[in-house]
Amino acid sequence: MHVVKYMFQQHGDARGMLVALEERRDIPFEIKRVYYLYDTGQGVRRGFHAHKSLEQILVCIHGSCKILLDNGHEKKVAALEKPYEGLYIANDIWREMYDFSPDAVLLVLASDFYREEDYIRDYDEFLKSINHK
Ligand code: TYD
Repeated sequence: MHVVKYMFQQHGDARGMLVALEERRDIPFEIKRVYYLYDTGQGVRRGFHAHKSLEQILVCIHGSCKILLDNGHEKKVAALEKPYEGLYIANDIWREMYDFSPDAVLLVLASDFYREEDYIRDYDEFLKSINHK
């Protein structure tokens, strides 16, 4: 499954911590879009889609959440609990985000602008698209 957990370099000293993310250095694609999810209700599950070509890196910069990842053949769960952890998710991977702590802020760096045509929002359609490749 093309999913990679990154541990970003932390620049810390007695004053506190800082993480810097640079395109093509820390992030393996050009960053065209940044968005973030916050105030996610307790027990809410979000996502439920795959992308035809979009690549993303998710960083839970505050709080924690879990991500179910599914490439059509295997499933796994990744937990994001630290502001220096990043989760790279390639295209063609179904994802569901859940177990958001009340204070969670999930930052997403994306390789392209928002295009609804890039989404596969139906799970059966996702499985068909995988099996046709
Ligand atoms: P949605 O895809 O439903 O979020 P999630 O998969 O996390 O549950 O997006 C919620 C709304 O935000 C939807 O109306 C589309 C809009 N949206 C944008 O306008 N731009 C974006 O970059 C994203 C990710 C969503």
